[in-house]
Amino acid sequence: KIVAVIMVGGPTKGTRFRPLSFKTPKPLIPLAGQPMIHHPISACKKIPNLAQIFLIGFYEEREFALYVSSISNELKIPVRYLKEDKPHGSAGALFHFRDRIMEEKPSHVFLLNCDVCCSFPLQDILDAHRRYGGIGTMLVIKVSAEAASQFGELISDPDTKELLHYTEKPETFVTLSLKFPVFFLFPSLVYMDFAKLIEVSLMMQVSDLINCGVYVFTSDIFKAIEGVYNQMRETSSNYSHFQSTTRSVPADFVRLDQDILSPLAGKKQLYTYENKDFWEQIKTPAKSLKCSDLYLSQFRETSPHLLASGDATNKKPMIVGDVYIHPSVKLHPTAKIGPNVSISANVRVGPGVRLINCIILDDVEIKENAVVINSIIGWKSSIGRWSRVQASGDDNERLGITILGEAVTVEDEVAVIGSIVLQNKTLNASVQDDIIL
Ligand code: GDD
Repeated sequence: KIVAVIMVGGPTKGTRFRPLSFKTPKPLIPLAGQPMIHHPISACKKIPNLAQIFLIGFYEEREFALYVSSISNELKIPVRYLKEDKPHGSAGALFHFRDRIMEEKPSHVFLLNCDVCCSFPLQDILDAHRRYGGIGTMLVIKVSAEAASQFGELISDPDTKELLHYTEKPETFVTLSLKFPVFFLFPSLVYMDFAKLIEVSLMMQVSDLINCGVYVFTSDIFKAIEGVYNQMRETSSNYSHFQSTTRSVPADFVRLDQDILSPLAGKKQLYTYENKDFWEQIKTPAKSLKCSDLYLSQFRETSPHLLASGDATNKKPMIVGDVYIHPSVKLHPTAKIGPNVSISANVRVGPGVRLINCIILDDVEIKENAVVINSIIGWKSSIGRWSRVQASGDDNERLGITILGEAVTVEDEVAVIGSIVLQNKTLNASVQDDIIL
């Protein structure tokens, strides 16, 4: 048997998703018309012998209750939400629920970050892991050398695929280490001594492989985490006065990357499987628009029935490129939609409306001749006649998309450009590059 664990984090992690995350936990915000977390869950469902899927987080249980019961019924596989009383770190959280996770004695445990967008080639990772052996195999991908330092950066043996070196977000680590030379005075307290730090930082400059946040482990991962807990306990009793300077996180907090992957690298315990398909991290709303696009194009291969079709000659709105429209949506036949548009339940779209590169959440009304481009429109919002909601330039990653929180009213003939508008606001005059609190 196999089980899958998806780390969903908690409210403190979702701040960059405000104002959308005020209403809904980030993992449940829709991408391509499905909650963010639905995409990894459907990938898990395809693994043969999958017994259960656990979501581990520190959001309130009630926030996930409805989703967990509906997805369990839909996929006919138990999906359980396990709530931590406080954040334990990505590895600490896994360890905290080890008895629940191992209750059916699975041979392997998949571990997935909830905030990555990818095709999740889980079976391929498992097959590779069975060939390599060791405690676990992680999905990695090549990115540009400049981008690599924002992630877990690594070196893998080109032949054996063994993980040889691992450094989490190396720029920050190197800067912090140089600022606090105490790290080097007490090598037993840190993960790397000076020589290793230099070696790794030099290698990191040429590495373009990063950690995708998708892993498969044997049950030995729990022993590895337990080992770190024991080591931390010893360290804190021996050097309690240094604890706060050497670790910037609480004493019972164990991170998978810094505390487990880094020290296990080069010990024939961890291996890498290179992803050749799409991969993105979903840390900002602008990224969620891009990821929505990636999932919509994936639907073309995997679930074409979810994509809208239509054209004006058939008295249906014109659809351009990949578009998801929930069956309950009321669309005027003169509207033109796409590419990369996802429209959730009970939305009403009036005559002459133009929608491009946007996510429209439940119960929104978009009145006649309004235009929405490069934006996310929150639940129950309303966009007036001849109004325009868009990013402040073509490059929505750099310039910032427009996001309307829940129940925002944009009155007729108002332009909202490159702005973030908090919930329940009414805009009766145009705004640009602003935050409306
Ligand atoms: N339940 C729970 N409890 N989840 C947590 C906790 C915790 O205490 N801390 C983090 N998570 C979840 C987050 O929600 C996310 O899904 C995942 O664990 C990893 O979060 P972080 O530890 O904050 O790391 P990151 O997202 O900045 O970077 C990680 O993922 C990148 C790929 O997206 C690292 O593993 C990087 O190396 C990697 O490149």
